[in-house]
Amino acid sequence: MKNSKRFLSLVLTLLMLFTLSSTAFAGFDDISKGIWDTAWEKSTESIEAAVTMFPGSDETERTIAWYSEAEEGYVELKSLKRTEKITASVKKTPEGDNRLWATVTDLEPGVYTYKCVSGDFTSKTYTFNVESADKSTVLYVSDIHITDDNEDNENELRDTSYLWDTTIESAVLQAASEGNTIDLIVSGGDQASEGLRNEYEGLSSSNLVKSIPFSISVGNHDRKSVGYKYYTANPNEADQTFKSYIGTDYWFRQGNALFLILDSCNVSMREHYEFMEQATEANTDATWIIAVMHHDMFGGREPWLDTENTMLRLLWTPFFDEFGVDMCLYGHSHYYSVSNVIYGRKTVEKTGHNAEVTDPAGTIYMASGSISRHAPLLDDEGNTPPVGENAGYTWLEDETVYSLMEFTDDTLTFKSYTVESGEEFNRLTITKTSKAGGHTYKNSAWYLKPVAFFVGRIVNIINNIDMYNRYKDQGFDVSLKEGLIGS
Ligand SMILES: [Fe+2]
Ligand SMILES: [Fe+2]
Repeated sequence: MKNSKRFLSLVLTLLMLFTLSSTAFAGFDDISKGIWDTAWEKSTESIEAAVTMFPGSDETERTIAWYSEAEEGYVELKSLKRTEKITASVKKTPEGDNRLWATVTDLEPGVYTYKCVSGDFTSKTYTFNVESADKSTVLYVSDIHITDDNEDNENELRDTSYLWDTTIESAVLQAASEGNTIDLIVSGGDQASEGLRNEYEGLSSSNLVKSIPFSISVGNHDRKSVGYKYYTANPNEADQTFKSYIGTDYWFRQGNALFLILDSCNVSMREHYEFMEQATEANTDATWIIAVMHHDMFGGREPWLDTENTMLRLLWTPFFDEFGVDMCLYGHSHYYSVSNVIYGRKTVEKTGHNAEVTDPAGTIYMASGSISRHAPLLDDEGNTPPVGENAGYTWLEDETVYSLMEFTDDTLTFKSYTVESGEEFNRLTITKTSKAGGHTYKNSAWYLKPVAFFVGRIVNIINNIDMYNRYKDQGFDVSLKEGLIGS
């Protein structure tokens, strides 16, 4: 039975990949790279439309977005049971065209197709699959770093987009070989290296982000320009006064897991606290709480960031203690690590290689490696970079990392692989015997809250002014209000 399910998943996945495009079978050799390069040259219009599937509020919804000259458009959704046209909402881009998006709702398990229509533009027809949510599989990556062409590589946009596409394909095929389909892709920031619109177009050039919901978060590189702001269409965005110009916190559900997507480039902690409070209150039935942000706090590979990391740990981790966050996923350092179980910024239980923990009394923090910018194996002095005192397991190879998370009602299995080897190199299994597990829901540093709330807002305004000047220098029409407190 298990074998037949595995075989069926593999066949369905191969079918989905095949029907998506001729480039979908880009593998890891020169031939497939050649196919990708040729398709890239021919597909300018479809790449520039950047059709992307973002998550909806839960697994019964998806939001589909695309760039369009026309201000009006719709998504045409089809399945065996329904045909529907969903009118798109619109936001004007700084380039003068529009980002349209439409949310399809009431999705039941089954196969759907859709296309985006606006003015003279009609996208290709894309296929997606909705699975029952009682067992979810989520792909986690970070620091994809799609990078614009530059002096060192005049085809870097095309090449980094190719690496991203091959990573998702590798993950999809790996999941299929285990009898699973990927329900969701989550990325922990630095999707783009310069925050440019064409980098986000490259991010969406893989057909797989048109058929699997793709959740992204704000990284310090995304903030370098305004592309992220117009590209995204996120569910349940927080209505925050003090935030970044380009983005904000948002949440969604995937089955029994609540994802809190946090903008760690914004240090106004009052906003984050209120967001987490509201999101967790609206999802008291969720078994798992997964926080996603950008900055690696416990990996410790970059000692020159110790001051910043100490501050980040002081600001963020007491909230994760209070709201009972099971895992916090991040990146930024580009070094892979899985922390011990942390409460009050200290190890309360060791993890290690292939760890299994039951009812952990805290949060496990995980940093993924970068897709296109692998971290150096040696530091400037030729030494292996150090490891943080609370890191439970670290791994250091010049390979591309991705992880698959599987959720059931009582287990969270987090498995990490490399694209190059195709091998699983680490696994973390968390078992909970109740929804609370080992969480005490006590803020481990309540006395810091008023200071973090007040100082955070001041620092947020200072940071935003810095960004405001940067965007102005880049020629974007940013208002002073937006420059002070985001928009
Ligand atoms: Fe990065
Ligand atoms: Fe970063």
